[in-house]
Amino acid sequence: MSDFTNGFWPWYVAAISLVSILACAWLLWVAGKARVSAHPGQSGQASDNTTGHVWDEDLRELNNPLPLWWMWLFILTVVFALGYLVVFPGLGSFPGLLKWSTEAEHTQDVRQVRAQVAPLYAEFTAQPVEALVRDPRAMAIGERLFMNNCSQCHGSDGRGSKSYPNLTNANAAWLGQRSAEHIVQTVTNGRTGVMPPMGAAIGGEAEISELANYVLSLSGSPHNEIKAYSGKKKFSACAACHGVDGKGNKALGAPNLTDDYWLHGWGEAAIANIVKNGKTNVMPAQSPKLTAEQIHVVSAYVLSLSGSSFPASSGAAAPGIKPN
Ligand code: HEC
Ligand code: HEC
Repeated sequence: MSDFTNGFWPWYVAAISLVSILACAWLLWVAGKARVSAHPGQSGQASDNTTGHVWDEDLRELNNPLPLWWMWLFILTVVFALGYLVVFPGLGSFPGLLKWSTEAEHTQDVRQVRAQVAPLYAEFTAQPVEALVRDPRAMAIGERLFMNNCSQCHGSDGRGSKSYPNLTNANAAWLGQRSAEHIVQTVTNGRTGVMPPMGAAIGGEAEISELANYVLSLSGSPHNEIKAYSGKKKFSACAACHGVDGKGNKALGAPNLTDDYWLHGWGEAAIANIVKNGKTNVMPAQSPKLTAEQIHVVSAYVLSLSGSSFPASSGAAAPGIKPN
C-alpha cells in the first residue's frame, strides 16, 4: 500500500503518529494529577479549594480535578487511536491487520458495477452499432459515456472546437468515413493526423498567399480572384493527399477543402500557417479507459449525433446537418 519513495518516510510518519498519541496520554495523566497553585501572596487556596483568581470582585475559579466521565472519554479516544492504527493503514507503510486500501475498495466497486451492467451491455453488443442508435437506453448510457470521456475535447454537444472535430457533421466533412467501423476504430486506438510542412515546396509568402486564396475559392469562401487564379497550379503539390479537386482523401485522413468546414481555423492566415508549419493532430486511444462494450455503445451515440433518426436526449437533432 505504501507509495513512499524513500525508506525513511514510513518511519518518520509512524513516529509522529505514535508520539502524538502518547503525548496526549501523558498530558492527560499530568493534568489529572497536578493542581494549580495560588499566586504567592494570595491566600485561601488551601482552605477554600480555589486557584486564587478573582474576577468582578467575587467570582472565583475552583481548583477541581477533571470530571471522571471526561477523563474516560479522553482515555477512550487514545485507546481507539491505537486500535485504529493496528487495524487500518496509518502507521507508515504498515498495511494494518485488515489490509484495507482505498485502491482495493475502488477496484471492488468497479467490478461490482461492471457485473451489474454486464447483462445490459451483453444485450447491446449483440446488436450492430447502427441498430443501437434506435435504443433509447443505449443512447442514454452512450450520452453519459460521451460526457465523461469525450466532451472535454469534442464539446458536450459533440460540435468540437478548433482542431477538435465536430462529430455532428455530415460525412463529407469527416476526416474518415462517418461509419460505425471508423468510429469504433478511432475511439479504440486513437488517431494521428499528419499534414507535413509544405512551405518550401510552394515558395515565398506571395506564392503561399496565392495558394491559400485558391484553397478558399474551393469552398466558395471570400477570396481574391486574381490570387486564386495564380495559386491554382501550386495546388498540384497538395493533390496527392487532398485530391485534384480538393475533396480530400479519407483513407489518408486528408480533409475535404471544398466543404467550408475548417478544423484548424478559417481564412487566409490559418491556411498559410498550416501550409508553412504543417499540423500533427492527435486523439489519444480510449481503450485503456473504456471497455470494448462501452466503446460499442458510445460509438452508437456518436453516430446518432451526426444525423440519425434518433433524437439525442439533450434536445432536438443538431441543426445545420447537411444530408450526405
Ligand atoms: C484529448 C482530446 C480527445 C478526446 C478525449 C477524444 N477525442 Fe476524439 N478526436 C480528438 C482529435 C484531436 C481528433 C482529430 C484527430 C485527427 O486530426 O486525425 C479526434 C477525432 C475523432 C473522431 C474522428 C472524426 C473524423 O472526422 O473522422 C471520432 C469519431 C472521435 N474523435 C470520437 C471520440 C469519442 C467518441 C471520444 C470519447 C470516447 C473521443 N473522441 C475522445 C480529440 C479527442
Ligand atoms: C501528405 C499528405 C498531405 C499533403 C501533401 C497536404 N496535406 Fe493538407 N492536410 C493533410 C492532413 C492529413 C490534414 C489533416 C490534419 C489533421 O488530422 O488535423 C491536412 C489539413 C489541411 C488543412 C486544414 C483543413 C481544415 O479543415 O482546417 C488545410 C487548409 C490543408 N491541409 C491544406 C493543404 C495544402 C494547401 C496543401 C498543399 C500545399 C496540403 N494541405 C498538402 C494532409 C496533407
